[in-house]
Amino acid sequence: MGELTAEVERSFAACEDDRLRELLQSLVRHLHAFAVEVQLTESEWRRAIAVLTATGRITDERRQEFVLWSDALGLSMLIDAIAHPKPEGATESTVLGPFWVEGSPELEYGQAIFTAAAGEPAWVHGRVLAFDRTPIPGATIDVWQNDANRLYGVQDNDAPETHLRGRFCARQDGSYAFLGVRPVPYPIPDDGPVGAMLAASGRHPWRPAHIHMIVSAPGYETLTTHIFDADSPYLDSDAVFAVKPSLLRRFVKDGERWSVENDVILAPAR
Ligand code: BEZ
Ligand code: FE
Repeated sequence: MGELTAEVERSFAACEDDRLRELLQSLVRHLHAFAVEVQLTESEWRRAIAVLTATGRITDERRQEFVLWSDALGLSMLIDAIAHPKPEGATESTVLGPFWVEGSPELEYGQAIFTAAAGEPAWVHGRVLAFDRTPIPGATIDVWQNDANRLYGVQDNDAPETHLRGRFCARQDGSYAFLGVRPVPYPIPDDGPVGAMLAASGRHPWRPAHIHMIVSAPGYETLTTHIFDADSPYLDSDAVFAVKPSLLRRFVKDGERWSVENDVILAPAR
């Protein structure tokens, strides 16, 4: 068996692209080792092919089941950790997820990211800062979140396209603020092959309540992150392994609405 693995590896020896050769040879080594380790049967492999086929069939511009596999198997967070070894002190990154869309409306400091929402209003505010706590004026804060019906605007046919998303520009003192709603836990799309895997293995599809952000500014690493509601269920069993304790924030009552403070610290570009 080792002979076969070596022969397949050698078949890539003349590949002129060093990185591609490395990727393919290593992939072959690990795939073969996996099959040997678990003594993969023919019927299991046929079943795996059927799962990959179903994954392709259900994937379109609105639904990306391959990324969902990557998320549910922890691969997205592993690749994120490799890509963003954050120097101590910067806000940590986490998964992008499938619900970000380009071109969210540009909104002014303090504006609402909805026209009508079911959820409880939440004032989200903070500052975008450098390591030394100096403000980063002009930083872009791109936010998106779900409503009390658990859905993101892009999933909800009854909501406007721009529901609960927007782009803000940090003020001179680095401050940003917007009116959102208190996010709620929700299941990742579980009506496809990934959902079947979760059900078959006794895992649940839930994510803890969170608000997404991409924060960017010239001269700094772009940060893709969340604010996690510190009082949410599922913080210790996120279906996509994306919780980092440093990203937990407490929502507090501020009169009629909730309020959550979230400073973001960007690392300098590498
Ligand atoms: C999300 O947080 O939007 C998300 C992330 C990974 C998989 C599904 C949803
Ligand atoms: Fe999300």
